[in-house]
Amino acid sequence: MAELLRTRALSAFYGDFQALFGIDFFIEEAQTVAIIGANGAGKSTFLKCLTGLLPCPKEAITWDGRAVGGNPAHRLVAEGIAMVPEGRRLFASLSVEENLVIGAHTRRHGPFTLERVYALFPALRERRRLAATALSGGQQQMVAIGRALMANPRLLICDELSLGLAPLVIAEIYEALAKITSEGMTSILVEQDVAAARAHSQRLYCFQEGRVALTGSSSETTMEQISLAYFGV
Ligand SMILES: Nc1ncnc2c1ncn2[C@@H]1O[C@H](COP(=O)(O)OP(=O)(O)OP(=O)(O)O)[C@@H](O)[C@H]1O
Ligand SMILES: [Mg+2]
Repeated sequence: MAELLRTRALSAFYGDFQALFGIDFFIEEAQTVAIIGANGAGKSTFLKCLTGLLPCPKEAITWDGRAVGGNPAHRLVAEGIAMVPEGRRLFASLSVEENLVIGAHTRRHGPFTLERVYALFPALRERRRLAATALSGGQQQMVAIGRALMANPRLLICDELSLGLAPLVIAEIYEALAKITSEGMTSILVEQDVAAARAHSQRLYCFQEGRVALTGSSSETTMEQISLAYFGV
């Protein structure tokens, strides 16, 4: 499969504080890659670089064969990079459907429509007129995923989908995601839930204190290797 995105020696800073130290990463089209790692390992920081929310050198990120590091977020969205952010960030005063429609603002050509999102998450169709905040945490997460899909992205980036959700809801969300990725969506999953991350990805990266401590095939990497990379002990 063709390579969609690659980072080379990607470093990132918050002022004087260095959060990432030379991350080498790649993802191929139609692949799902998981990024795991402890609190503060730099997972969200890495995603902020990919989505243009944090500055980085142009050559550090290649997208579809072109150097795009440091491009503004709106340009990367137009290129087809969509993110489901940590904490969902829905518009509280808007309905479910209005939140979904906002995702279509920078819409590319593609299969995702309101109908497709409702087919994927039937609970949202029934609640489409309700305020987004009237929904359960799991349903709000579905709205956040649906909003990202409405842009018809080429790369769907999810930050901690399972955070704070009950196991049954997590399973339901990952089932929907599996449906999308089996139809060819390329996806980066950041997860604290190592089991979910392994089960739903082909390759994984484990970050530790801003560095890649482990990378490999998700099915062949052992839990022992992962815990070593996770905690560094
Ligand atoms: N806005 C910020 N300003 C300064 N430092 C920050 C900022 N955001 C994150 N950091 C620091 O950068 C490092 C990496 O944080 P990051 O949020 O990327 O980790 P993470 O792997 O996503 O963790 P979590 O699992 O808690 O979401 C941490 O040391 C964190 O304290
Ligand atoms: Mg994070």
